[in-house]
Amino acid sequence: MKKVITYGTFDLLHQGHINLLRRAKELGDYLIVGVTSDSFDRGRGKLNVKNNVLERVEAVKKTGYADEVIIEDYLGQKIDDIQRYEIDVFAIGSDWTGKFDYLKEYCDVVYLPRTEGISSTQLRAESQNSIRIGIIGSGRIARRFVPETKVVSGADVVAVLNPDKDEAESFARLFSIEAFDSFEAFIKQVDAVYVASPHLTHYPYVKQSLLAGRHVLCEIPMVLSGNEAKELYDLASNQNLVLLEASKTAFCPAFNHIVTLVKSGVIGDVVDVKASLSKMVAPPTRELDPRQAGGALHEHASLTMLAIVKILGIEYSDVHFYSKMEDGVDIYTKAVINYPHATSSATLGIGIKTEGNLVISGTKGYIYVPAPWWLTDFFEVRYEDQTKNRKYFYSYDGEGLRYEIQEFLSMIVNGRRDSYRLRREESIAIAGLIDAFHNNQWLTLL
Ligand code: CTP
Repeated sequence: MKKVITYGTFDLLHQGHINLLRRAKELGDYLIVGVTSDSFDRGRGKLNVKNNVLERVEAVKKTGYADEVIIEDYLGQKIDDIQRYEIDVFAIGSDWTGKFDYLKEYCDVVYLPRTEGISSTQLRAESQNSIRIGIIGSGRIARRFVPETKVVSGADVVAVLNPDKDEAESFARLFSIEAFDSFEAFIKQVDAVYVASPHLTHYPYVKQSLLAGRHVLCEIPMVLSGNEAKELYDLASNQNLVLLEASKTAFCPAFNHIVTLVKSGVIGDVVDVKASLSKMVAPPTRELDPRQAGGALHEHASLTMLAIVKILGIEYSDVHFYSKMEDGVDIYTKAVINYPHATSSATLGIGIKTEGNLVISGTKGYIYVPAPWWLTDFFEVRYEDQTKNRKYFYSYDGEGLRYEIQEFLSMIVNGRRDSYRLRREESIAIAGLIDAFHNNQWLTLL
């Protein structure tokens, strides 16, 4: 019996897929079809897939050409499958010509003609009206944001707002979008807003945008107080709008995997979380300016405390801060946050340097994420018996903002108002911790 195997995402199954499967089946007697898992697609940066893996498997089965359907879940699996299933022919569309020649060592490799004029990408674009996004602010992060929207289908950046007209215009020219210096004119042109302006302007911009009926994605730290955060989320609920804090690590695939591994008990009960993040900055810069809410805590608390809150929850019992100040801002802060059954600490610096790693310690083992842990692409689960250690590799594509953009759009399109990757309560608790820092009774100056 001649066995053939082929692989694909098979999203929104179309005539091109059907032709490919028919031709692949004709190459032998038995056809195995590998359908990519959702996490595998996410991990390799394919963020636009509309049908989930079960729907895609069903669609492939319905064509009647597959004798067996398997799930493709990891890089390198094709070689394993070919050997395990004793495959004679590996077949794939001609858009991949040459890419799978390395499999010739194991079986025949055939590139089948691709059907012209149709693809899942095209169908996705046709089936979805784009969300028109307007950006408030035109600084460093806004510049990185626009290219990232290009890889998420349905996201269309159309406008930028900056009260400084020249800055708005030069940003708009760079990305061929419209420039505005008035909020009223800007908001009329967009369905959703990305707030990337200076920290202290987040609260008024988010509020105004929600009141105008627009969904909001807001850069970190969204606000610097728990009460303000709660007020904004309540407003979003009342308006039935999405409000999401753009805490990029929360949405990246490897970090999500760490959280699910910890919750499923692979390191036992968690007893300590240590997260560090330091980035040296030189004056003059916003980060060192107390009037612009500079300082290590305001810069880095959102991501480090995200790790703590995602792992240990929001019910901490006490918190203490140790800070080294210079010219009105903390250049170093260590936050010690205790829970009834665990401890945690966040070490933050803009004028000190330290190793930026994340260590989650448990009763059975620990998870080690090397610097820069907030751009997670690799981590290791470690045990006393080192033979049980496991390393996990992921891709962290581009600037990593694509993951939060995808979640934001998915929430809008699917009518979801909360994200399990960063819940409202978690975002409020993190803002509350920033608040606690301003309350001097828990602060020791070094
Ligand atoms: N295929 C084909 N003809 C098309 C589209 C896809 O022969 N018009 C083949 C691909 O070459 C591959 C298989 O179908 O062998 C599955 O491809 P997949 O990536 O799932 O489909 P695309 O439509 O190319 O998806 P996308 O646009 O997301 O890349």
